[in-house]
Amino acid sequence: MIEYSYTLASDLNAFRRSAGWYEFSSRQLECAKKGTLFAITALDGELEAGCARIVGDGGYQFFFCDVIVKPEYQGQGIGSEMVNRLIEKALSACEKGDTVMFNLMSAKNKEPFYEKLGFMRRPNDERGSGMTKFVVK
Ligand SMILES: CC(C)(COP(=O)(O)OP(=O)(O)OC[C@H]1O[C@@H](n2cnc3c(N)ncnc32)[C@H](O)[C@@H]1OP(=O)(O)O)[C@@H](O)C(=O)NCCC(=O)NCCS
Repeated sequence: MIEYSYTLASDLNAFRRSAGWYEFSSRQLECAKKGTLFAITALDGELEAGCARIVGDGGYQFFFCDVIVKPEYQGQGIGSEMVNRLIEKALSACEKGDTVMFNLMSAKNKEPFYEKLGFMRRPNDERGSGMTKFVVK
């Protein structure tokens, strides 16, 4: 049975490797630890099956990153459970009546996963595109 812990995955790079993404440097891992507002890890006993985290200002801007379920655990509802739980967690820290924004940059072809969770694609009739600039220092 999968259980959920509101902690950062012990090895973010193992998750990132499993998704075929570049790995964080040790400094970036430290920054991720310090800069994460809310984190969740899906646990299959002692094995880490999924992770997700939110960075942001805690009041208005909440940005999802490192939403990853290990390949052997995909398709069991773990990814959606983690995203929904983190949204609940973030909202529990907000005040009634606050409008807040949950943002993310979808990996290619993962948009339908997020649409099922209520995220909208951009651009659309009312809003412009999300924008990204990757810089290698
Ligand atoms: C994207 C990811 C997190 C989804 O996690 P998951 O646990 O497999 O997803 P779930 O089982 O919770 O799926 C929830 C729903 O989304 C759908 N879904 C999941 N991935 C999808 C995809 N790539 N395309 C279309 N639908 C998808 C599922 O079919 C399911 O639909 P249902 O509710 O109608 O059954 C997982 O595939 C993953 O880690 N991929 C590699 C890393 C990655 O790309 N992360 C996203 C970064 S932005």
